[in-house]
Amino acid sequence: MQSQRPYTLVARFYDELHGDAQRMNRFARNKVLGKILPSVHSVCDLGCGTGTTALELAHRGLKMYAVDLSPTMCRLARQKARRAGLPVRVICSDMRAFRLPEPVDLVICEFNPLNHLPRRADLIRVARSVWRALQPGGYFYFDLNTRRSLQELYPSTHWFEKRSFCMVLHGGYDRRRRKGWLNLEWFLPTGRVWRRHHEHMEDVWWTDQEIRRTLRRAGFSHLRAWDGAKVRPPSPHSHPGYDTYYLAQKF
Ligand SMILES: C[S@@+](CC[C@H](N)C(=O)[O-])C[C@H]1O[C@@H](n2cnc3c(N)ncnc32)[C@H](O)[C@@H]1O
Repeated sequence: MQSQRPYTLVARFYDELHGDAQRMNRFARNKVLGKILPSVHSVCDLGCGTGTTALELAHRGLKMYAVDLSPTMCRLARQKARRAGLPVRVICSDMRAFRLPEPVDLVICEFNPLNHLPRRADLIRVARSVWRALQPGGYFYFDLNTRRSLQELYPSTHWFEKRSFCMVLHGGYDRRRRKGWLNLEWFLPTGRVWRRHHEHMEDVWWTDQEIRRTLRRAGFSHLRAWDGAKVRPPSPHSHPGYDTYYLAQKF
């Protein structure tokens, strides 16, 4: 069995696994940023994954940068942009220290990349890097899974069976370390045999107070927050308290 760095195999099958997330992202983005987007000319998609959002915004004529730590995600995002003939500049970098060639009007960080930071203290590093990446008056938009989500939704087991892979997702919550964790056991066809691979991920959470304090320390103001259930597409499975969407402005 091979152990993989987080977001290596997930990256390869990300679009197949998370198709619905893109619809959710789009819906929430339009709801929160609807009035702001017409005045935005340049955007950075931070923790861009395979670049779906970056491509959508590039398609609307926005100048796009996309940043991700996973080389596989970056390769796939570049590939998708090239195939679509869209000018997205993909930068393989850590969100705690990334730099853009020029400041942008908006930094977007969708579908909880911030929960993946290894240490709670990393949040201020990201906030400062985002602040540096923005024009004065620019916006930082992101969503986060709450503690409740990590404690109640992560402890579970799911089985995915597709043509190109099988995967067992088993998760839990470590109270002492205040982290949610996910073990992904992949089974991939290789010639006539199925090979097993392992990926492990951990997520941290912050209170609303910690988020507000950290963003203020980094120089943001006008912070607004929405419960996920208010901005995601209406669904009988959508309950309040599991994720939060934030919008902050650099002044
Ligand atoms: C759940 S995915 C979200 C991807 C995309 N934003 C979307 O909406 O589908 C989280 C992404 O964050 C990236 N990521 C995790 N830690 C990161 C870091 N420190 N710096 C940059 N990207 C990171 C992962 O590689 C992954 O692509």
